[in-house]
This record gives sequence, structure tokens and C-alpha cells, in this order.
Amino acid sequence: MPDSWPTAPAHFLTGTEPGAEGILALVDRAIELKAAPLSVRPLEGASIALIFEKPSTRTRVSFEVAVTELGGHAVVLRGDEMQLSRGESPRDTGLVLSRHVEAIAIRTHSDEVVSAIASASSVPVINMLTDGHHPCQALGDLVTLKETFGHLDGLKLAFVGDGNNVARSLALVAGLVGVQVTVASPSGYQLEPLPGLVITDDPAEAAMGADAIYADAWVSMGDEATAAQRLSALAPYCLDDALLDLGAPGAVALHCLPAHPGQEITPEVLYGSRQRIWDQAENRRHAQKALLEAIVRAV
Ligand code: CP
Ligand code: NVA
Repeated sequence: MPDSWPTAPAHFLTGTEPGAEGILALVDRAIELKAAPLSVRPLEGASIALIFEKPSTRTRVSFEVAVTELGGHAVVLRGDEMQLSRGESPRDTGLVLSRHVEAIAIRTHSDEVVSAIASASSVPVINMLTDGHHPCQALGDLVTLKETFGHLDGLKLAFVGDGNNVARSLALVAGLVGVQVTVASPSGYQLEPLPGLVITDDPAEAAMGADAIYADAWVSMGDEATAAQRLSALAPYCLDDALLDLGAPGAVALHCLPAHPGQEITPEVLYGSRQRIWDQAENRRHAQKALLEAIVRAV
């Protein structure tokens, strides 16, 4: 576990817990593990609970395969099959799961639920996406940026669209290691002020000179009731070739996926030569292996 990690057990809830040095170490370790995916088995004999209260493709598969490649066993739990769905408290869920598994990873709506499980848990808790944060995505994205540009400090990242969980985690986690993050969103969809973050309503201003331009869905999981207003307000924030042309020479397009081609990103960018989006999807696994290796106690 990195010395800079302040909490014990070493939870990963906003992604800032490891500190800048810890995050940089995880990124470098992920790149090593990508080159040698079956080189270590630190989770031999360990079981890891993966709780999903929202849908998932990448996070589910990348975590489950990560645990397998590290020699452990993933216990995949759907929220609607757990007693959580019948009113058992997050606290009691954390107390019980801690008696069986070496880490608990959860995707759910409320950050408070994740915090309550973490407070009760004697094993590390990992946030696999909440309404507020998506730290594992940000960690994987730093791996993609580092392998694309060879460094992180001083890179310019523009996020265009809804000021959502993915935008917030990029601002917090990438911002901590020296990436200059600008988020362009319309009024009503902007992030709160965060250290080092530049907020604008002008996508062209954000994209100008950026090394990477990032898009995410305009209707996140849980936002379906306001879909029509969102699609209308966010229509000027599409990541297309013209926006990418405003970036620095060699600028790349990023997207956490799932994508909605024709809405937040054009098919030309999504499947074009300037994207690193499919590498991003793969790098989730390598980043999460580095994270699990660092925070799960040997059994
Ligand atoms: N990017 C991401 O978290 O994808 P899933 O929702 O498919 O897990
Ligand atoms: N902002 C999106 C990310 C999906 C990976 C959501 O929360 O639905």
C-alpha cells in the first residue's frame, strides 16, 4: 500500500485517498501489469465482493477478470438479490461482508451508502461508480493518458458535456497529479468549483490547445426523467472532428463509454484514428489490478 494512503483499511471512494504519489504509483504499476498481465497472483485465496445496484458492462467485466488474473475469486452480487434491497442497512452489509471477503467494491446511486459501508467495513471498499464519483474510470484514464503522452504533469484535459460523476472524478483525480482539467457545460449542468478546475460554458474555449477532449453520456444512469431537457441543453457540446481540431497537435478523443453516437460524440470521432477510447475501456482492467494489488491485504 502506498505510504501516502491515509486511511486504514485503504478505501478508494473519491479516488484521492492514495494522494498524488500513490496515484502516480498505481498508474505506473498498471502499465507494468498491462505488459505482463499474468505475472503476479497477490489475491490467491482472496474473495472480492462486487456489488452492482446499477447496470454495468466494462466495470463488471474488468473487475471480475482483474480478480481472476490476480488469482482471487470475485463474488458478483446484484443489489436486487441482496437484503440491501429489502432494507438491510449499508452498515450491517459492510459488517457482514467484511467477515467473508478481502475487499468490497460497489456501484450504487448514493455516495452516502458507499461511505456507510466503508465506515463499518474492516476491509477496503472501492467505489465502482456513484451518482457523484467514478474514481476507477479516472484512474484508468490516467493510464491511457500516460501511455499516449508519456507523462501526466501539465497535460490539458477538456471535458465537454454534463458536469457529472465522470467529470468530477477527472477533476479530482487527474487534477491531483498535475493534469489541467477544464469542464465545459451549460448553465444548470456545471460542476461545483473544485481545486485547480476551470469551468466554462464554451466547449471551444475548453478544447482550445487541449491534449485530450473527453465526452460522456448526456443522460447518466438515474437521470432518465430529465432526458429531454438534457438532450436539448447539451446539444452544442458534441465531441466532433471540428472540436477535436481545436486541440493541441496530436490531441486525442476520450469517452468512458457507453457512447451514444450522434449525441455526445460523432461516429467519426468514436471510431476514428484520433480516439483512444477502446484503449480506455481495456485500461480499466489494468488500473483496477494495480489498485487491488495495492490495497487488498495478503491472505
Ligand atoms: N465506463 C463504465 O463504467 O462502463 P460500464 O457502465 O459499462 O461499467
Ligand atoms: N456518467 C455515466 C457514466 C457511465 C459509465 C453514468 O453515471 O451513467
